[in-house]
Amino acid sequence: MPSASEGPSIAVDRLSVTYRTSIERSPTLSGTLLRLGRRQRTVRTTQALKDVSFEVPKGTVLGVIGANGAGKSTLMRTVAGILPPTEGRIEVRGRVSTLLALGVGFNRELSGRENVVLGGLAAGLSRRRLQDKYEEIVAFSELEEFMDMPMRTYSSGMYGRLAFSVAVNMEPDILIIDEALSVGDARFRRKSFEKMRELCGQDRTILLVSHALGSIRDLCDEAIWIHRGELRMADEPDAVIDAYTTFLDVGEDAVTLEDV
Ligand SMILES: Nc1ncnc2c1ncn2[C@@H]1O[C@H](COP(=O)(O)OP(=O)(O)OP(=O)(O)O)[C@@H](O)[C@H]1O
Ligand SMILES: [Mg+2]
Repeated sequence: MPSASEGPSIAVDRLSVTYRTSIERSPTLSGTLLRLGRRQRTVRTTQALKDVSFEVPKGTVLGVIGANGAGKSTLMRTVAGILPPTEGRIEVRGRVSTLLALGVGFNRELSGRENVVLGGLAAGLSRRRLQDKYEEIVAFSELEEFMDMPMRTYSSGMYGRLAFSVAVNMEPDILIIDEALSVGDARFRRKSFEKMRELCGQDRTILLVSHALGSIRDLCDEAIWIHRGELRMADEPDAVIDAYTTFLDVGEDAVTLEDV
């Protein structure tokens, strides 16, 4: 396999993303009833990312933190190529495997088994390789008994476990994990954390989005803080977490009292 040449794994250059959502102009119930079928619609725009630039060197584990709605998942979706930039550009070198926020990726009408197979094929695995990987994925998720059930019957924790197991077992060059460490129960969280530690120790570029600041501190080499769509800070995890918790006024509690 030709490895990526010199230069960063990911280069984000002056990235802006604006969502355009069609909404109903009169959101009252009677208005909705009157105008059913010929509703007046209008477009609401949300600028989710504004002029964000940073680079991620190959092999770096980058933590991404920020408040709800700050733009973290939007950033991950654009890096993953799921969402086009409105302005600016993103360069990605290597194969990306993504585990975005829950709800992306799997088809809920299909069984767990079908979803894993489709995911593997989409990731370019050969039939043979897929068979081995399938066993690993199911074993890691501990969902053997549920693999034939449609995924709509899964609890959110089960869904997250399978998603995490698929993403980390695809051996990508670049792994994007959005919020995965907080989905399972306490035992699975510990197991995911150990798996993440193992992956982070390898020569792999990882973007880890989490509100679990202790995990970010333990696992990441660098961190960025996204605040209302802007890159507020990029530095060592300790410095960024300190600034962020000071800003939130929650102090060290947020780092020590959370998960794992
Ligand atoms: N599909 C979408 N259509 C329209 N607006 C969206 C869409 N997805 C996100 N947004 C908006 O973009 C902004 C950023 O959302 P995003 O999901 O990126 O935040 P986040 O940092 O991941 O938050 P969280 O910590 O809650 O996961 C929010 O204002 C949100 O309402
Ligand atoms: Mg998010």
